[in-house]
Amino acid sequence: MGAQIIDGKSIGQGILQDVSRGVLDLIEKGIRPHLAVVIAGEDPASHVYVRNKERACETCGILSTKIELPDSTNIEEILRVVDALNRDSEVHGILVQSPVPEGIDEVAIASSILPSKDVDGFHPHNLGRLVQGDLGGLLPCTPSGVIRILEDCGAEMGGKRALVLGRSRIVGVPMALMLAQKGVDATVTIAHSRSEGVEDICKESDIIVAAMGVPHIVKGSWVKPGAFVVDVGISRLEEGGLAGDVSPEVSEIAGWMTPVPGGVGPMTIAMLMSNTLKSAKEINN
Ligand code: GUN
Repeated sequence: MGAQIIDGKSIGQGILQDVSRGVLDLIEKGIRPHLAVVIAGEDPASHVYVRNKERACETCGILSTKIELPDSTNIEEILRVVDALNRDSEVHGILVQSPVPEGIDEVAIASSILPSKDVDGFHPHNLGRLVQGDLGGLLPCTPSGVIRILEDCGAEMGGKRALVLGRSRIVGVPMALMLAQKGVDATVTIAHSRSEGVEDICKESDIIVAAMGVPHIVKGSWVKPGAFVVDVGISRLEEGGLAGDVSPEVSEIAGWMTPVPGGVGPMTIAMLMSNTLKSAKEINN
């Protein structure tokens, strides 16, 4: 029997409905949640992602402002924009779309956003809270979307072996921390481009979260029958179309699998809306 293919769009829509209700409550109190998105450069894919974020804001009743900067921008200019947004009491969430133009330090940018407005959850303060097992801060959207998928599908995680493929600051590392946290209780391995024996580690894993950004790197022969496979990768193929990190034949082996597109992507946006609502509530408390 093939894997159950998870509809991230539908789970995400449920979250957007909850967020919409929370937004209405805040509007009744005279507060309109407001997300500011900064985008530097002309990368077409980034412009599509930002448009999708604006659409989700419209769906939830969140006000959105887009600030576009040229490809020739520098870090000083981005920091000036972030500083103005930090000081604007009517802005509750700030996101600087990644990637920024070459040579600009993304960690410095993440660190310049007020932790209370850091809806990406990339500020060292928010990541530090997560490291300490404090889930009360703003959590990175993609890993929290993955946890919501696992919970929603009733995946057994306690004591199970979870493998995170990829060690990025914004997906792999926080993902591993969230899977290992108390209450989720998975036994977590992080593998990356320098890991030896990835295929064997994969075969022993009950949960695989693939976030390497390498099209179709996870093969059917790597996967334990019945495993829960979450595909975070999204690459544009030269021949056209999108590919995740997981090969299509994995759907014949896994028990559950997220598609690309339509799996983790819509969940990331839904969690961004949820973080923006949380920021707006907490800033006004
Ligand atoms: N680029 C692709 N995904 C993301 C995201 O979640 N946040 C930001 N800031 N940039 C991105």
